[in-house]
Amino acid sequence: MSSLNSPEIDWKNLSFGYLPTDYNVRCRFHNGKWGEIEVSQSDSINIHMAATCLHYGQEIFEGLKAFMGKDGKIRIFRLDENARRIRESAKGILMEPVPEELFKEMVKKVVELNKRFVPPYGSGASLYIRPIELGMTAQVGVKPASDYLFMIFVTPVGPYFKEGFKPTNICIMRDFDRVAPKGTGRWKVGGNYAASLDAGEKAHELGYSAVLYLDPREKKYVDECGPANFFAIKNGKYITPASESILPSVTNKSLMELARDLGIEVEARQIPVEELSEIQEAGACGTAAVASPVAEIDDLDTGKKYIVSTNGEAGPITTTLYNKLRSIQLGEEEDVHGWNTIVE
Ligand code: PLP
Ligand code: COI
Repeated sequence: MSSLNSPEIDWKNLSFGYLPTDYNVRCRFHNGKWGEIEVSQSDSINIHMAATCLHYGQEIFEGLKAFMGKDGKIRIFRLDENARRIRESAKGILMEPVPEELFKEMVKKVVELNKRFVPPYGSGASLYIRPIELGMTAQVGVKPASDYLFMIFVTPVGPYFKEGFKPTNICIMRDFDRVAPKGTGRWKVGGNYAASLDAGEKAHELGYSAVLYLDPREKKYVDECGPANFFAIKNGKYITPASESILPSVTNKSLMELARDLGIEVEARQIPVEELSEIQEAGACGTAAVASPVAEIDDLDTGKKYIVSTNGEAGPITTTLYNKLRSIQLGEEEDVHGWNTIVE
């Protein structure tokens, strides 16, 4: 753990990695109730080797960000949405849902405690907040735990895709699914990411930034990317997949609201893969990915290449939406929807 007053971090060149910060916060569910919030300086946890999170995947997480604003105030983006979503994930795999108020209090506390790690305004970086919940009960039978640990760490991050806001290529690989049709895709469950590692690594080796998954039932419709939702611009409309096997992205929801504010029509519906030949812009959107533009989508099984952008730049609507989102997060533009929570 660092004990300097201002950390010596090259803020402008941060990657999306883990850097130690001063504190994390923890809370335990035991004997049917949540305990007191603990502040810890250790980045390790002590865990029983028979804990359900280790054997049976009782692990869920969240991802949100805090930004240093133009006015020197720290803003946490859409805290309420993540507080709600982690409860849905918990219910999905029979974990104890963290009360929304506890979630919010702990997020604010961990940001406050690590203020000096919030990247400066203008650096392009942000403080990534990673809440995690683990099933802690030691048992060998396949059943839900009765004890849980909820903890949150933060770490300063730069862009998720190293290209930043430059278009990258993504690919479709029909031999892989990250989730089942009525499975855990709508929840932020660690196992979904384990299931995406093989395809993700193969895609990276081939030079793609991400895999674009098709719906796991029919392989007919676009679903989402490994770490982000997918959106496209078709004849001036914002289109994005509606699917029961994708994570309901807070960023996508925000981009849809911003698009509507700008008078752009929004369609959340099934997108047949062939429709990708009719789009003019595309992007991967998420807390980590923000709105990362896509240049080309290659279907590795059919050999079909959907060329979206050839000039190495993001399209005009993606750029407008990205800038609008950023300026709200950075306090440059009025937060008309009340999305930011200010940490004093
Ligand atoms: N889809 C998946 C699979 C993700 O891991 C993420 C990241 O959280 C997203 C979509 C984007 O969601 P959000 O915008 O809430 O971060
Ligand atoms: C996020 O965008 O917060 C994510 O969780 C995506 C990825 C880093 C898993």
